[in-house]
Amino acid sequence: MYNFRKVTDDLFWVGANDHRLALFENIHPLYHGVSYNAYVLLDEKTVLFDTADWAVGRQFIENIQAVLAGRPLDYLVINHVEPDHAASIEEILLRWPKVKIVTSPKAVILLHQFGFPISADQVEEVREGDTKCFGKHTIAFVAAPMVHWPEAMVSFDTTNGVLFSADAFGSFRALDGKLFADEFDFDGEWLDDARRYYTNIVGKYGPQVQALLNKAAGIVGLDNIKYICPLHGPVWRKDLSYIIDKYVHWATYEPEEKGVMIVYASMYGNTETAAEVLASKLADRGVTNTRLYDVSSTHVSYLISDLFKYSHLVLASVTYNLGIFPPMHNFLADMKALNLQNRTVALVENGSWAPRSGALMRAELEKLKHMDILDDGVTMASSLQEQNLSDMDALADAIAASVLK
Ligand code: FEO
Repeated sequence: MYNFRKVTDDLFWVGANDHRLALFENIHPLYHGVSYNAYVLLDEKTVLFDTADWAVGRQFIENIQAVLAGRPLDYLVINHVEPDHAASIEEILLRWPKVKIVTSPKAVILLHQFGFPISADQVEEVREGDTKCFGKHTIAFVAAPMVHWPEAMVSFDTTNGVLFSADAFGSFRALDGKLFADEFDFDGEWLDDARRYYTNIVGKYGPQVQALLNKAAGIVGLDNIKYICPLHGPVWRKDLSYIIDKYVHWATYEPEEKGVMIVYASMYGNTETAAEVLASKLADRGVTNTRLYDVSSTHVSYLISDLFKYSHLVLASVTYNLGIFPPMHNFLADMKALNLQNRTVALVENGSWAPRSGALMRAELEKLKHMDILDDGVTMASSLQEQNLSDMDALADAIAASVLK
């Protein structure tokens, strides 16, 4: 049965939710599902903006058919070719063989790489600044390279201010009947999923996201954007500055909050105890916006997400095979891969005969940009002892002074 929602008088959400996918991109756990968004515009011509993952292909096709109500599909605008959005293209071509594809030249290359049987006469290539009129609506195309793939573009409806933003402004989590961000408690219920999506999927490309935001401001004018229609998650029609402000923070690697994230790697609970003791000492000093995570039992996508949120980070790791405990090492590698920067970091190391994890973690952190690694730190042998407490107090003092300044 079809299941679509109206976005504006003549624009319809025809996407679908996926609750069965366990790992997005086969990496990131999904506990609340995900939506694949696509939109149909009913103008003098009919236009489909993007397709959907094949997992929801049948629902997606039923939705399009219901909205078209017997009209042909004239155009398919492809903003992004990643298969979670493009996998149903072939089905669209089979059902509406006269549809004309409107997309970027790089997208055409990728479409062929993915094996879609598209001939040159089925495609109309568009470039930065091109516009296309479908009747009442004129769409302007803006290149969005590396947000999140090189071919990506966004499409802006100059008639009614709808921005089809591709992966930008997307979020994990299924919509489940609702569509607009103002139909949710976004800040309380959704923001963490939106941040986890952004930071892990697009986080590496902060400069490109900044470039897109600047271009949108220059070419389109941020005030002219009335709706943001992303490829995942809710559509924005109110308080757009809220989500744009979040994106500015994330894209510039500026923390959202002053707070301390303590991530520990502990084999038998002794490094965990040290992390807990540090958290108590921070609370004693008035630093209560703290989060404690076991690196072994927390998926790295959650750690990365909170790293983009908080200003300060403490890494506490056991030494393992004379190296960094492997899950902690993986976390550090992901920080580098996702271009994390601008954080203040403190280190706690443990080792029963040759504690080295502190120096090794410092070396990894020094590969990141604009990281302030505190000189104070704690080295312990096997477990935290009375003689370590003065170092722990000095570390808590240094972190508190930095957070509360
Ligand atoms: Fe949701 Fe880059 O695709």
